[in-house]
Amino acid sequence: MDDHRLDQPGDLDHEAFRTEAHRMVDWIADYFAGGARELPVLSRVRPGEVAGRLPAIMPATGEPLEHIWRDFEDIVLPGVTHWNHPGFMAYFGITGSAPGVLGELLSAALNVNGMLWRTCPSATELELVVLGWLRTALGLPDSFFGFLTDTASISSLIALAAAREAAGIDVRQKGMAGRPELPPLVVYASDQAHSSIAKACLTLGFGLDGYRAVPHDAEYRMDVDALKTKIREDRARGRRPLAVVATVGTTSTTSVDPVARLADVCEAEGLWLHVDAAYAGSAATCPEHAWCLDGCDRASSFVFNPHKWLFTPIDASALYTRHPEVFRRAFSLIPEYLTTPVTGQVIDLMDYGVQLGRRFRALKLWWVLRSFGLDGLRARIRGHVAMAREFAGWVDQQSDLERLAPVPFSVVCFRARPEGLPEGEALDRFQLELLERVNASGEIYLSHTRLDPGIALRVAIGNLRTTPGDLERCRQLISEGMTCLNSR
Ligand SMILES: Cc1ncc(COP(=O)(O)O)c(C=O)c1O
Repeated sequence: MDDHRLDQPGDLDHEAFRTEAHRMVDWIADYFAGGARELPVLSRVRPGEVAGRLPAIMPATGEPLEHIWRDFEDIVLPGVTHWNHPGFMAYFGITGSAPGVLGELLSAALNVNGMLWRTCPSATELELVVLGWLRTALGLPDSFFGFLTDTASISSLIALAAAREAAGIDVRQKGMAGRPELPPLVVYASDQAHSSIAKACLTLGFGLDGYRAVPHDAEYRMDVDALKTKIREDRARGRRPLAVVATVGTTSTTSVDPVARLADVCEAEGLWLHVDAAYAGSAATCPEHAWCLDGCDRASSFVFNPHKWLFTPIDASALYTRHPEVFRRAFSLIPEYLTTPVTGQVIDLMDYGVQLGRRFRALKLWWVLRSFGLDGLRARIRGHVAMAREFAGWVDQQSDLERLAPVPFSVVCFRARPEGLPEGEALDRFQLELLERVNASGEIYLSHTRLDPGIALRVAIGNLRTTPGDLERCRQLISEGMTCLNSR
């Protein structure tokens, strides 16, 4: 039997591909044109329902694409929570813009692995150029070297590994175990920092004991005096402070840590300063929001996610550093089979992190940045901030709602204050019930968090297709939900 025959089931010949691709692009165009809005934003499937409708073993013979399409629509689609739905306001806004989808499509077709410059010179060079564009757009120093990873979690992990390398304790060679001379290492972040920072600590061998959650001030920013105290206490106990992670745009309230003051502390104490601007970094493309990166020019490393608020399909995280040589020292390891005639003369991006294989992510980002232009990006971000401020204004006017944090960007945290319900568990439960009512609508999807007074609801705006009308519907659903809950 000839296994190499092209008419074996499986791959498509180019004419069939053309037809199928047109069908798929038509589906996507309809989805963007309004199809997404017709679907429940939050999937209604029960746990196990999707898996239960799929066969436990793979098909022995290839199936017609018709059948795959049918099952996509019947089984997979109902289990999709639509992050591209205009009513998606739950987590940081993520819209896969149309240009971003096109860039992804092309990247999948080329299927290059940009591990080395030579394995795809354009993947490396486009990445460096696009990251340079973004560096300028955010007002970061020209001396920052930038590259892409998949997520902010991984960017921060890599950055803290570089911090460990910079400490000069030769973890690269000797590891950390069985070294009594090595003091426990400590990383500091505010108690509002993203969980990925603590996860990086447990991955890198600092343990959760090596992670300090520093208290926040009245506006959910890191308390610098409390940080200094913790550093002093750790040194007194024989621990070794290693790095401070500042957050620009915290996950719950989008508060901005005082980065310049944290940079002072890091410089005085000899610590690595990593800035996690995963969500809010994009806002700095607008001159009126550029303040949020004050002091970031003094960071050792800095991350923001184009896949959060720069209309790029997940995944794309931009990691910058003033110390690319430290990243190389931490990670470069070149076996014979990965050497090329230009090794050492070019940038091989595999040298800056854990992974070898690298997707051609810069292509979709390039497509997005060129298609929107800086003005287009700014206009969308400004629109989102304006909608958030208007929503916050409405919250402030309601006697039975209470805003729980400032609104520097496009997220509003608030809670219901029904008459006669005191602070405490019952009030928290009321918020969660209200949340479930709004989310059950299928029109709007919100999330929640815990802030100082208790449970808060979050309205996070960041979708390209969210309109003031969607915010109006959100307000109606909240009001209706409260009326129902109050009349029980
Ligand atoms: C401040 C902050 N940092 C990091 C992350 C993690 O991002 P990623 O999903 O890209 O790892 C988030 C996610 O929302 C975040 O809000």
